[in-house]
Amino acid sequence: MTDSAQPRTAFSEALAAARSEAESGLAAATDVETVEAVRHQVLGRSGTLTVVLRSLGELPSDERPAAGQAANAARLAVEAAIAARLAEVGEGQLEAWLAAEAIDMTAPGAPRRIGHLHPLWSVERDLREIFHGFGFEVFEGPEIETERLNFELLNMPPDHPARDLWDTLYVAEPGSVTVGAPRPAEDGTILRTHTSPVQIRAMRELGAPIRVIMPGRCFRYEAVDASHGFEFFQVEGLVVDRDTTMGDLRGMLEEFARAMYGEGTATRFRPGYYPFTEPSVAFDIGCLVCGGDGCPACKGSGWMTILGGGMVHPVVLRNGGFDPDEYQGYAFGMGLDRMTLLRHGIRDLRYLLGADLRFLEQFSGGR
Ligand code: PHE
Repeated sequence: MTDSAQPRTAFSEALAAARSEAESGLAAATDVETVEAVRHQVLGRSGTLTVVLRSLGELPSDERPAAGQAANAARLAVEAAIAARLAEVGEGQLEAWLAAEAIDMTAPGAPRRIGHLHPLWSVERDLREIFHGFGFEVFEGPEIETERLNFELLNMPPDHPARDLWDTLYVAEPGSVTVGAPRPAEDGTILRTHTSPVQIRAMRELGAPIRVIMPGRCFRYEAVDASHGFEFFQVEGLVVDRDTTMGDLRGMLEEFARAMYGEGTATRFRPGYYPFTEPSVAFDIGCLVCGGDGCPACKGSGWMTILGGGMVHPVVLRNGGFDPDEYQGYAFGMGLDRMTLLRHGIRDLRYLLGADLRFLEQFSGGR
């Protein structure tokens, strides 16, 4: 009987070894993944316990029932231990996840940086709003223009000396920029020197009655300093209708000055000259810095010129498609940059387009 006891002992030893392997593995497992790995290692297709169970058939038949029972009990015990451990570590893990992902609904939100209007655009926006109140619409034209629209149709033929008032940037003929002076493009393509060419575009596109402002970027061939830029902004205005008079221009501009600079703003008109308006005026307001007493900002005069304007020249009306015997109009143009400098007491124009955030962030408070 000794040789029949031999295999059974080997079998129960193997069984005990598989069981203790499972038990120590489970005791060390602290998460679901490791418990599952133990299950695979013990009960998988070539797991330690599976292999032992498979060897049951090699036992002598009289030993098989008892061995089979022991094996079954071992398998059930291991399965139960796995299930129990799984529940334990699973719960712990869930709690850990919940703790890690907990959201404190009462915590303040992360502050989000938002942008703000550039000081130029807040002035432009105010202008749009004021003129909107006067019944003006906004009409825009291109920054790259033709000499014809920028000068000729505004009553400045090619050799007209008034063209010298606008130092012009010409767009070069493609391929002509080598050494020395580039040749201007054949078609007279330029960067617009003012927003006045948009007057012609508006007249041709809109037809009477016209009541528009035309804001936009302009360019001049300038030496850049504190008060001159090669790139700047204007807001042009144009009204064309029957029976439009100089009185309308005057009343509207006085109202505008009060809306922009306050009720008590002093205003005055002086004669001016532009080839595309006749008569032409310069419009002044009482100096915003000294209030009229005279200071360096107004060169001692007590006045500041804020725009030029006048009655649209008959030639310009005709170029825009109107019969000057039937229609009249007034036009005006103002510099956005200077208005912005004045509003904030900025002393150098170059800050405006300098893209220095330390400068720009001072204007985050709205206007
Ligand atoms: N275009 C003129 C300038 O650039 C301003 C202006 C506009 C004058 C409209 C009269 C009428 O100085």
